[in-house]
Amino acid sequence: MYQKLKTCYDSIRQKTDFQPEVALVLGSGLGDYADGIQIEQTVDYTDLEGFPVSTVKGHKGRFVFGYVGKVPVVIMQGRVHYYEGYAMSDVVLPTRLMGMLGAKKLLLTNAAGGVNSAFQPGDFMMITDHITTAVPSPLIGKNIDELGTRFPDMSEVYSKRLREVIRKCAKDCHIDIQEGVYVQFTGPSYETPAEIRLVQAWGGDAVGMSTACEAMAAHHMGMEVCGISCITNLAAGISNVQLDHKEVQETADRVSASFKELVTTVILAM
Ligand code: HPA
Repeated sequence: MYQKLKTCYDSIRQKTDFQPEVALVLGSGLGDYADGIQIEQTVDYTDLEGFPVSTVKGHKGRFVFGYVGKVPVVIMQGRVHYYEGYAMSDVVLPTRLMGMLGAKKLLLTNAAGGVNSAFQPGDFMMITDHITTAVPSPLIGKNIDELGTRFPDMSEVYSKRLREVIRKCAKDCHIDIQEGVYVQFTGPSYETPAEIRLVQAWGGDAVGMSTACEAMAAHHMGMEVCGISCITNLAAGISNVQLDHKEVQETADRVSASFKELVTTVILAM
C-alpha cells in the first residue's frame, strides 16, 4: 500500500509542486465548491496510476489545488466510497495522499441521515466523534509505519481546537449548527428502521456512507481533522417517508449556499 501511495504521490508531483496546508473533501451539495475558489491546477483521478476512480453520477473525480483567501488548499472533488467495491485501504488512499502532499489539516464534509430527533433536514452537524463498527477499518493490513503507529489512539479523532473553530465560524455565519456522533455504514442501501434504532442505542446522531474511515486514516497519519455533515433527510423509520437519493440531493442543493459560506469561513480560520 505504501508503494501504491508513493506511485500516486510521484505521479502528482510530476504535475504540480503545490504545497497545500488544508485538505478538503466535498460531499453532496458542495460538488461545485471548488469552481468558486482561485484554482491553480487540477489533476483528474484517472490521470493517476493506481488511483481508485469514482463511479457515482455527479461526482467529479479530481484534485483541485488552489487558494481559499490566502490559504493553500487541496480539494477532493468527488470521493471514493466503499460501496463502489474498493478495498477500504483504497477508499482512504486519496485522503492519505493529500496528507503526503503536505496538508496538515483536513475538513471532511458529507450528506447524512438524521437520527437524533432534534435534527431537521437542512441542518448542519459538526461531527464530534464517530462509530465505524459497521464497516471494516481502513487500517487493517500491514501497518504503514511511514505514516503512523500500529495501534493508534482514537480518543480525539476530531480535533478539539478545530471543533471550537467550527462553533465560532457557524456563529459568525449566523448558522445554528448541531453537534453529534456520525455512524458509518457501508451503503449503498439506506439503513433499515431496526438499524437506525441500533444507531440510537449506540449513541449515534447521524448516519452516512463515508467520512469516518477517512477521518481514521488521516488521524492515524497525524493530520488534524474536523468534519461537518449536512443532514439531508431523516434516517429510515425516524419519519415515515421512504428514502431516495433525489431527496438527499435536493436538500443538499437547497442549503448549499450556506454550506459553502460555512466551509469558506472555517478554512480561513483553521
Ligand atoms: N443514510 C445513509 N447515508 C445517507 C443518508 C442516510 O439516511 N442520507 C444521506 N446519506
